Amino acid sequence: MNNRIPNYKSQFSKIVKLMILALFIGLWEAPCATSTKAQAGESSIDTGSRKTRVTITNNLEGSNFTIHCKSKDDDMGTHVIAPQENYSWEFKVNFWHTTLFFCGVSWRDGSLVYDFYKASRDLNRCLYYCNWYVKRDAVYGLNEVGDPDIVLRWSSKSEN
Ligand SMILES: *[C@@H]1O[C@H](CO)[C@@H](O)[C@H](O)[C@H]1NC(C)=O
Ligand SMILES: *[C@@H]1O[C@H](CO)[C@@H](O)[C@H](O)[C@H]1NC(C)=O
Repeated sequence: MNNRIPNYKSQFSKIVKLMILALFIGLWEAPCATSTKAQAGESSIDTGSRKTRVTITNNLEGSNFTIHCKSKDDDMGTHVIAPQENYSWEFKVNFWHTTLFFCGVSWRDGSLVYDFYKASRDLNRCLYYCNWYVKRDAVYGLNEVGDPDIVLRWSSKSEN
């Protein structure tokens, strides 16, 4: 009995030493793994601490529009935007990439409701700056390289 106790103790301290070693290797390797991933240009996008900004500009040439945006948690209220002015807000995309803002836009001759930011669609489309132009014929959504890849036609006001 007496000579088994020191034996057991030394086994235990060996295990502790191995665990500490493994922990250090783990800590040391973690940042390396992250940078390799970034260099490989992997598609799993992490916006980090950077915020995304959505800007909706009034190009109605003489008319106001009214906008009312909401997310799951926030009601951003109703705002009247004058010609050449813009409505803009910023936010951090959540970890699960479920961030979504939908807005109702209306002016003298039409109205529409649309998801003006949707992480599942926009992380690959307009990572940090998502711009929209409100025009008389339609609302145009621009991607990162400035192409209007989303075109929303107005519903005429009399239908609402
Ligand atoms: C736009 O809205 C502002 C403030 O609500 C108002 O004073 C102005 O007369 C409006 N302009 C037009 C063209 O409707
Ligand atoms: C939005 O409007 C502000 C003030 O009018 C202006 O300084 C800014 O450049 C505009 N941003 C965009 C993206 O149009």
